[in-house]
Amino acid sequence: MSDKISDKIYNPPAAAVQGAHVSGMAAYEALCKEAETDYAGYWARQARELLSWKQPFTQVLNESDAPFFKWFEDGRLNVSYNCLDRHVEAGRGERVAIIFEADDGSVTRVTYAELLARTAQLANALKARGVKKGDRVVIYMPMSVEGVVAMQACARIGATHSVVFGGFSAQSLRDRVQDAGAVMVLTANEQARGGKSLPLKAIVDDALADNSCPTIRSVIVYKRTGGQIAWVDGRDEWLHDAVAGQAASCEPEWVEAEHPLFLLYTSGSTGKPKGVQHSTGGYLLHAALTTKWTFDLKDSDIFWCTADIGWVTGHTYITYGPLALGGTEIVFEGIPTFPDAGRFWQMIQKHQVTIFYTAPTAIRSLIKAAETNEAVHPKNYDLSSLRLLGSVGEPINPAAWEWYHQHVGGGRCPIVDTFWQTETGGHMITPLPGATPLVPGSCTLPFPGITAAIVDETGNDVPNGQGGILVVKKPWPSMIRTIWGDPERFKKSYYPPELKGYYLAGDGAIRDADNGYFTITGRIDDVLNVSGHRMGTMEIESALVSCTDLVAEAAVVGRPDDTTGEAICAFVVLKRPRPSGDEAKAIAKQLRDWVAKEIGPIAKPKDIRFGDNLPKTRSGKIMRRLLRSVAKGESVTQDTSTLENPAILEQLGQAY
Ligand code: PRX
Repeated sequence: MSDKISDKIYNPPAAAVQGAHVSGMAAYEALCKEAETDYAGYWARQARELLSWKQPFTQVLNESDAPFFKWFEDGRLNVSYNCLDRHVEAGRGERVAIIFEADDGSVTRVTYAELLARTAQLANALKARGVKKGDRVVIYMPMSVEGVVAMQACARIGATHSVVFGGFSAQSLRDRVQDAGAVMVLTANEQARGGKSLPLKAIVDDALADNSCPTIRSVIVYKRTGGQIAWVDGRDEWLHDAVAGQAASCEPEWVEAEHPLFLLYTSGSTGKPKGVQHSTGGYLLHAALTTKWTFDLKDSDIFWCTADIGWVTGHTYITYGPLALGGTEIVFEGIPTFPDAGRFWQMIQKHQVTIFYTAPTAIRSLIKAAETNEAVHPKNYDLSSLRLLGSVGEPINPAAWEWYHQHVGGGRCPIVDTFWQTETGGHMITPLPGATPLVPGSCTLPFPGITAAIVDETGNDVPNGQGGILVVKKPWPSMIRTIWGDPERFKKSYYPPELKGYYLAGDGAIRDADNGYFTITGRIDDVLNVSGHRMGTMEIESALVSCTDLVAEAAVVGRPDDTTGEAICAFVVLKRPRPSGDEAKAIAKQLRDWVAKEIGPIAKPKDIRFGDNLPKTRSGKIMRRLLRSVAKGESVTQDTSTLENPAILEQLGQAY
């Protein structure tokens, strides 16, 4: 597949323009102009129109303690009121909020009235167990209605949730619980994925073992399967017992707009994941506004975002955005390849999905599957309900874009290639489907009000056609507020002094010389993007060297991969003689299992290469650029004369 950005242009079809929330390029430009002319006024107007405030705000943006910006700070609101109650109060309680499809294909529909009652019951149960405003609650749950309810229930009482993806290990979970100082964990006995039952509660037990997380007072367990689990009396309680007898109404906690709605841990360029802190008012505003404009969500839509609630995409485009607008959405428990790789297409057909939002890595693997097994090709399914497609998490290569457009979208559905990050809370650079002409491989233009730009190392604008560093010049409502417990790291990571007070995204980008369209060229720091999952190279290196019996030294780099976008490649020096053949294979497996245990299976290196030592300059610096060439299988063209031991290049050529 070619990575060249396509020079094809797809104008929005008339059907997409007509009746769109943002209809036509002139409407897009008018919004941008409004934001440019009166920045605070523009965001204030959106916040008043889209959100319900208990106490209206009078202040919009407070920059006095930059870069710790505050939005709508004297306003009060509640996120779960905005996502649930207000629709019920408007007489829309019988509308379906969630169509849940389980791994085994069984379907449950939940109305807004039911979702509200379940949220209120759990909120009351949390309160009864002493959880109060400002407490942190860790959610380690499968894709489920209960997971969404757990998040909404925390929001209802002003507790700050921190969802940990169910694929993270006990060690990763423990780190997050400890860093957040959480008082409670909500989990399930097991999760059902791909026809298998996978443990969750056992991992929680492991994470909390030996009193390693003394702040945790209780563990509430959703009974998803019949699987048996260990039980800690006095700490553990079934979810169904906890909510039994709780009232189905609960007065929302009206919190300040800046109150932390959630923390979400993500990888940075140093070893320790950082707890990205999001606000209540500004975050919810952008979640709702982007759902409305980027997905053009209407009452007649069936919206499906395939992300997991453990990632930011699941937060913004499952739990918060679509519900804030009173939409109807799919929540899917399973995986795209079970019972076969036609599952997504089959579900689109079955539920008459109109808007479908997924990741390039899923598309690429389903292309491969369809190429090898004709039966799972989308052409075998009726996908005519679709009107809009979306992509997120990593660059979508033009070949995958074209396939998605033609075979899934039937050539008629615009594709919104949405660039954003855990830190940005919602879409930053994205087409609007009824306005923006599309170019495959480009995320096109900034969302109205987002001041994305490309600058050099000193913060000066670079001309279009010339690559540089992606920044956002002005603060925006849904931006990260701080890194939990580490404001200095927040400043250092996102507001380096040389960038004139601009937000540093961590990505490189280039704008087209003719139309100014943005194309993301990839991370400029030590962060990898594997199947749309963010991984720090140092995080994986730390995990490898913590295998102290075996590993003396490790360096991790990324290399391009046709399916996963990037693949993890680890260079390892062992504390024993360099292995080869079957022994090397066995040790590589052992190291992958170790990394899975330390971080989670998503962090397993695809390639492991062993050397007597690592290529270093005479001053002792690991030559990472050289390792990246080796990982790609390129012939090394760099100057190796400063290498301490040039012979190891040959050793590292072999991947296990
Ligand atoms: O490198 C960019 C890439 O994903 C990173 C953010 O990862 P995360 O915080 O996990 O959030 C992913 C879901 C929003 C970015 O720094 N990225 C995300 N979307 C795109 C992208 N790269 C290119 N095109 C995109 N549409």
